[in-house]
Amino acid sequence: MQRILVLPGDGIGPEIVNEALKVLDRVAELDGLELEIDEGLIGGAAYDAAGHPYPETTREMAREADAILLGAVGGPQYEALERPMRPERGLLGIRSDLGLFANLRPAILYPQLAAASTLRPEIVAGLDLLIVRELTGDIYFGQPRGIEEREGERVGFNTAIYSESEIERIARVGFEAAMQRGRRLCSVDKANVLEVSELWREVVVRVGRDYPEVELSHMYVDNAAMQLVRAPKQFDVMVTGNIFGDILSDEAAMLTGSIGMLPSASLNAEKAGLYEPIHGSAPDIAGQDKANPIATVLSVAMLLRHSLGHESAARRIEAAVGRVLDDGLRTADIVSEGCTQVGTAAMGDALVAALSTDNA
Ligand code: IPM
Ligand code: MG
Repeated sequence: MQRILVLPGDGIGPEIVNEALKVLDRVAELDGLELEIDEGLIGGAAYDAAGHPYPETTREMAREADAILLGAVGGPQYEALERPMRPERGLLGIRSDLGLFANLRPAILYPQLAAASTLRPEIVAGLDLLIVRELTGDIYFGQPRGIEEREGERVGFNTAIYSESEIERIARVGFEAAMQRGRRLCSVDKANVLEVSELWREVVVRVGRDYPEVELSHMYVDNAAMQLVRAPKQFDVMVTGNIFGDILSDEAAMLTGSIGMLPSASLNAEKAGLYEPIHGSAPDIAGQDKANPIATVLSVAMLLRHSLGHESAARRIEAAVGRVLDDGLRTADIVSEGCTQVGTAAMGDALVAALSTDNA
């Protein structure tokens, strides 16, 4: 029996998670998986119900789980809360608490969606890149941080900091991922300006000696941002720190036409993981049956693959996504001419049906 903790969160979170669970149920049936699925609170929903964005009960359940599926957190109604109570703190809290330092963000363009990208099809056709983002360090967590009075005015400050061991372990994840793929790794930093990046580069080069088959390159983050829109197919795996990875992964997501398509995995040393779509809670369309559930469904596939070891079930889900896109079904965010626009629930049902066909 494997235990999955489901944390729907805020905004469109509950709707998309609901569709993903329909898919998971069906795939568990088809592949004979024994799963125990519990539900917990996180983000604004947790603040509303329990007074904290990452309550103790959720923390306990998270530690017990073999894998966690999360929807999204955040909403305008929580923006006035003091910082430690904001929904985002729930997400940062669970990442940090479980030591989920390795964030894998694949950006894959489904051929059926080439027209949905804002870039010309020939620039993005066949795109398949993986961003490996460090997730528990850097300026997100560095001390000191704060807002204080200095010389008669307020200053705000944060600290970008990485230890050698933190760099080394994420570099290894990057190299290992590259070994499974095209054997090219681009490390992104700002070593021309920042000491933290100077150390980053030095350690990545050192780790690289253990992976002679991987072709290692380095790029400054400003250039990487430019290269991603100029010629994104030059990349196989990119490895970078927390803040650069946050920014570059949104950019990479947009190359694929919709941020609504991209899943992510956040893993710790034990390979227990948190899986979530990379998009946010989209409060503007919440509860309207408009959200695209595919990123969450693909997050379930990653969960089955990376934390539970069910590769064939993961492939079954990914194949179903391809089939539904082939059939021309699209949610509003990825719709183009000649396709059939459907809502969140209809997309989920179509995915479930596509799974069944797969097994027939
Ligand atoms: C992400 C998000 C989060 C981050 C926010 C919601 C805290 O943007 O997962 O990329 O900055 O890491
Ligand atoms: Mg982000």
